[in-house]
Amino acid sequence: MRFDGKVCIVSGGGSGIGKATCKRMAAEGGSVLVVDLDSKGGDATVQEIADAKGQSAFAQCDVGNPAQVKAAVDLAVQKWGKINVVVNDAAMMTFSPIVDLPEADWDKVLGVNLRSMFLFCKYSVPHMPQGSAIVNLSSVHAHETTKNVVPYASSKGGIEAFARGFSEELAPLKIRINCVAPGAVNTPMLWNNPNVKSGVEKVEGAIGEPEDIAAAICFLASDEARFITGTTLIVDGGRLDILP
Ligand SMILES: NC(=O)c1ccc[n+]([C@@H]2O[C@H](COP(=O)([O-])OP(=O)(O)OC[C@H]3O[C@@H](n4cnc5c(N)ncnc54)[C@H](O)[C@@H]3O)[C@@H](O)[C@H]2O)c1
Repeated sequence: MRFDGKVCIVSGGGSGIGKATCKRMAAEGGSVLVVDLDSKGGDATVQEIADAKGQSAFAQCDVGNPAQVKAAVDLAVQKWGKINVVVNDAAMMTFSPIVDLPEADWDKVLGVNLRSMFLFCKYSVPHMPQGSAIVNLSSVHAHETTKNVVPYASSKGGIEAFARGFSEELAPLKIRINCVAPGAVNTPMLWNNPNVKSGVEKVEGAIGEPEDIAAAICFLASDEARFITGTTLIVDGGRLDILP
């Protein structure tokens, strides 16, 4: 089992892709810290893992809040003594033209989506032994996007650049960092997206399940991917190849 004896932190573990990732890592032997703002979703993930005889705990945390991120990392170390895997999955979107976007909304999206990566890495890496891995959730929006979601697309582009740059700092420590960029995935984030509801963003024909993305995340987080770092794996059912 790929995560036997490994300690895994997964943000956004209360829903969708993060939840599927928590369950897969626990099923493969990992001790999983489920991190989410939503305690109902986080508790449900922990319960489902317990029902399957896996090991996990929940940390309520706003990933945009530095003190709460540090507390979540400290909890994992206090419980299990080290960190082997960090999955930065939690994210949010706003839907507004740039000229109408309040400055606070820009800061919020970049804080939750991009600064959270910096915070989890800053606080986790000192506890990560050689062979550890970080996986960040990007999006096809880092590569092709639509109007009114510029902060989200900017954060996802930044996430990929962050991984490229930080991989060089992590190389001497023998720690890897990569991104997964999903296409449309069957989660609340997809179906609550007003651009998807209105048809501005078309998703027909290429909708993945959270487990499809969790499979790619777990691959990059495992030793099977030991020669892969600083890059992005696009997992979109071929969506970026199709002309609009
Ligand atoms: N679903 C898609 O179509 C899709 C496509 C491309 C990329 N992604 C990316 O995949 C990741 C997971 O998305 P999902 O579709 O599973 O979404 P989701 O809405 O199902 O789950 C997101 C989780 O993040 C949590 N969260 C949001 N803000 C938070 C905060 N500030 N602090 C802590 N937790 C917070 C939510 O409570 C929720 O449990 C995101 O990074 C998203 O950008 C999703």
